[in-house]
Amino acid sequence: MQIPIYKEAIEIISQDLRSEIEAGLLAPSASISPKFLYDPLGSHLFTAITLLPEYYPTNTEKNIFAQYRDQIVNAVGTGGTLIDLGAGNCEKAESFFNSLKPTSYLAIDFSVEYLQDALKKLEGKYPHILMQCIGMDFSRQLTIPAFIAQSRRTFFYPGSSIGNFLSSEALELLSQIQKQSIDGGLLIGVDLMKEDSILMAAYDDPLKVTSAFNLNILRSINSHLGSNFRVEQFRHKVIINHSQNRVELYLEVLENLTVSWPGNSRDFKKGDLIHTENSHKYTIESIKQLLKNAGFKTTQIWTDPKDYFAVIYAK
Ligand code: AVI
Repeated sequence: MQIPIYKEAIEIISQDLRSEIEAGLLAPSASISPKFLYDPLGSHLFTAITLLPEYYPTNTEKNIFAQYRDQIVNAVGTGGTLIDLGAGNCEKAESFFNSLKPTSYLAIDFSVEYLQDALKKLEGKYPHILMQCIGMDFSRQLTIPAFIAQSRRTFFYPGSSIGNFLSSEALELLSQIQKQSIDGGLLIGVDLMKEDSILMAAYDDPLKVTSAFNLNILRSINSHLGSNFRVEQFRHKVIINHSQNRVELYLEVLENLTVSWPGNSRDFKKGDLIHTENSHKYTIESIKQLLKNAGFKTTQIWTDPKDYFAVIYAK
């Protein structure tokens, strides 16, 4: 199951990541890509977020999956290859193994180590499903290797992670999925637009778990770049941007400071913001249009009674 990664390849990837981080930090409005939120501690903090009562997407999606499981399985069909994008602990996909009965399962995530542990456990439980995993930054380019079955690929992209992309990037990723689904389709979870108070509570929770998740990105950057960010000099800040239909996460600088890393540095002033994440919220119409623009011909949609979240099968 272990996909060999050559040492030179690892070095190219990490040099690439360092250049990407540096470009973001040196831009007039500093930013850090949200993918750096998910280092080992960040991944655990995100799991903790999904357990918060205020963070409605996880439970709402789970309830839609449970309530409409039969209809979803009917739409998707059984067998074929299930390709899990951003698989993490693989739990959501596993909840479909007994009903979708895939013959093979491909888990894809940024961190392959985390995936390997999860897949080892699943292999024992589902010996009839071929388990494979790939470490891939599919936010740049999604390429399913040719050795993965060339028919009936069902892409699984739950949790509204599509919302973390700008609409041009989301369109690019969805188009790549559509082209590689080969008479399969896409089962996706999408967060819908709703009142500010619900969004604010979900992204600025009273236990401050989201604040820790956001601040931890600075430690993740320190380990990639060798920088000297100190989390106590920043604070978690959430802005709801109505014109862009999204929640924006920032780190606000609390005092004038200089951050240094090998070969460069950046001065920040009190009140400066580092942009760390966008979480776009769609309407049923806007996501349908996006899927259509990506080349999908049909959609089947399931929502919760409050219309907070949508699960969509696009073909
Ligand atoms: C992974 N993604 C869909 C989450 C979201 O809601 O945009 C990440 C997150 N950021 C803060 N809380 C959760």
